This record gives sequence, C-alpha cells and structure tokens, in this order.
Amino acid sequence: MILNRALAGQLDREDPLKDFGQKIFSEDKPMVYLDGNSLGKLPVATIRQQEELLHHKWGTRLIRSWNEGWYEMPISLGAKLAPLIGAGEAEVVYSDSTSMNLYKLAFSALQHQKGRKKIVSDTLNFPTDLYVLQGLINSMGNQHELVLARSEDGMTVSTQELERVIDDDTALVLLSHVVFKSGFLYDMEKVSALAHRKGALVLWDLSHSAGAVPVELNRCGADLAAGCSYKYLNGGPGAPAFLFVTEKLQEKLESPVWAWYGDSDPFAFNLKYSPAKGMKKFLVGTPPMLSLSAIEPALDLILEAGMDRLREKSLKQTQFLIDCAQEYLLPLGFSIGTPVKPEMRGSHVSLRHKEAYRICKALIDPDDGSIPVIPDFREPDNIRIGITPLYTSFTDVFEAIERLLSITKGRIYERYSAEKAAVT
Ligand SMILES: Cc1ncc(COP(=O)(O)O)c(C=O)c1O
Repeated sequence: MILNRALAGQLDREDPLKDFGQKIFSEDKPMVYLDGNSLGKLPVATIRQQEELLHHKWGTRLIRSWNEGWYEMPISLGAKLAPLIGAGEAEVVYSDSTSMNLYKLAFSALQHQKGRKKIVSDTLNFPTDLYVLQGLINSMGNQHELVLARSEDGMTVSTQELERVIDDDTALVLLSHVVFKSGFLYDMEKVSALAHRKGALVLWDLSHSAGAVPVELNRCGADLAAGCSYKYLNGGPGAPAFLFVTEKLQEKLESPVWAWYGDSDPFAFNLKYSPAKGMKKFLVGTPPMLSLSAIEPALDLILEAGMDRLREKSLKQTQFLIDCAQEYLLPLGFSIGTPVKPEMRGSHVSLRHKEAYRICKALIDPDDGSIPVIPDFREPDNIRIGITPLYTSFTDVFEAIERLLSITKGRIYERYSAEKAAVT
C-alpha cells in the first residue's frame, strides 16, 4: 500500500455513499473527525427538526404534543431501528441509558433463570457492563458469581475460552458484540448457540455495532440486547438508548423497575401496578423528548444508506487504514490493536503506541497550523480511530495516517503534556 493522497481522492470519488457527507453538519474550518464511535456527527436534518420541535411542538403545541406523536415515540422509534439490528418491530423500544437497560435486562434474565448461579462476561468488556453485573449480584444477595472469559492476545476471546467458562450453571452471558477497545466482532450466531446449548440466555451490548455493522439479532438467536444511540447512530450527546427482548421471552420476563410508563394503563392512575404487555413494560418514566426526537433524522439517514453498503465501505476504510499502518507506522513503534481479519472487526481500529496519549493530543490540538485530527484515547496505549462510513472519507483516513507519521517521526508529541483530561 502506497500512502497516496490521489488514491484516497479517487476512492472518495468512486464511493457510492459520498453524497451523505453533505447531509452532515460541518463547520467551515477543516477538521478530520474520527470519533464517531464515541459521539456521532450532527445530521443537517436534525438541526431543522430540532428547530421545528422547539418552535412548534414545544413552543406552540405544548402539552397537546404528547397526543401528537410524543407519547408513542419510544415504541415508534424502536420499530424504526428494528430492521437495522435484525429485530421485529415489536421487539425494540427506546428508554434510559445503555447502563440502565443492561441492568433491567440482566435482572430479568437472572430472575427468569432462578437456580443458575453463574454470569459470564469477558475481560475486554466495557466497564459499565461489568459494574452493572457486580451491582446486581450485590443487590440480589450475593448468590451469583461473575466469571470473565479471558483474552490471550488482549484483542479477542476464543470460542474455546467461552466453551470453558459457559456451563450448565450459567444463567446469563453478557458480551459486547463489538469490543470497545480492540474492535473485535463476536460471531453472534455461534456464541448465542453455544450459550443456548448450556441453557444460558445471552444479552448483547450493541453500543459499538448498531449502525456500524449489520446486526441480525433474530437470525442469530439473540435473547436480549441493548445499545446506545450517540455513537454510530448519530442521535446526539447522551441520546436515549434502546433495548431488545426476543418476542419469545417478552411475556416471561419482568422489569425490575415498576413505573408508570411501563404500566398497562398509565392515565388510569391506578394505585396498583399492572405491567403493560410486550416491550412497553420495560419503559420507566417520561421520555426526554428533545433528545429522543433527535434520534429519528439520523436513523433515516442510516436506513437510506443501507447497512450493507455502510459495512462494505467501512471494511474498505479499515483495511486501507490497517494496510497503511502496517507499512508506515509499525516501524515507528506502533502496533495494531484490532484483528486484521475483516470478519473479526467492527468499524474502528486501535493503533497502540507507548506515547499514545501525547500523540492523540498532538493530533487533536496541533500547534503548527495543521488540520486537527480527532480520534480518542483509551487506556493504556490505544489511539482509537473510528470509521463512520456515513461520513468518513478515504481522504480523512489518509490525513490521519499522514499526521500520525509526522507527529511520531518528528517527535512532535514531546511538546505536549502527559497529564490526562477528564474525558479522553
Ligand atoms: C460498549 C459500551 N457499553 C455501554 C456504554 C455506556 O453507555 P451509557 O453511558 O449510555 O450507559 C458504552 C459507552 O461508551 C459502551 O461503549
């Protein structure tokens, strides 16, 4: 692979999704944004929609708006997301944060699997997933044990390792479909089948896969899932999360949070809770309409682009990045912290370097007039480069590699402090 701006430009011209870049807000100053896996960019249509929401729906219609689409929105938007994650329309709702949804679903699963005492996750999982399980074990009287599958290479977890830890006593397996640091993509079908053979339920965290890779929850036999909307789904900072329960389990599971949005008849104001049928019982309180509404224009864009085309472009771009990194960055002390096999990776690539934090700072905050390049840093030494094929261009990837080269070769990072900011 020859690092070549003209080649990147040619790939951009041939890109069938190139027009989507114009549907995303960008400021006048050039910037290369490679952090859509932490906070997705702002669709232009969302700006218009939020203006209309403020002026008309809140400003003018006020309380009447609840009967003009707001009340049903956690369910109607769930139905819109459903095809992107391979779910049925009545299997997905929006509510709360990913952490809260993981809590609700894990609780339901453990209660349903009474008698089984083991919960399985892995050492690569995002901390909130593990904290939620630890907290649940604590609040359920410390009768369960959390067992973590180990990674031999720090990037992936093998099927043999999962076979070792999942057994007949396992109630629940909770894994991130795409791992947050390494970008490792689990084989959802294989792992779900493995868990089911032992009688365990599987809960998938889709935070790094919804909108990033095609997800087929029902085809793969998934039981439960949750994920966030502010990364590849471009729903905005702190956008409400979603949760999925396979239809087969919906009537069998109970939410741990009994609240009025999950009641069968909230406006009857009954004194005794009676759970709604289906997914509605997993709702809790009044949804945040400003941020919930903002999810819709972004979903429309992804549905229009199509997950298959997005995946095709994402794989080309992550491959371009990996090829360039192998050629130019490995000799400068980098290593690749992401599986190189395409079927084993999601849509971000981690480049590891002992000076990763300072290199990241030099990318984000250039002091020499260069274009800012924005990835993120993940402890201890990962520069995480998020490819969001809806708007990332091949030229963006080229710029990132070129900047990494010059910052590392010229030791420009030495001009930056190693003191960590609160959010990295
Ligand atoms: C894999 C994964 N799960 C869960 C979360 C946390 O989600 P929330 O803050 O919505 O609870 C994140 C956040 O980055 C994540 O990457």
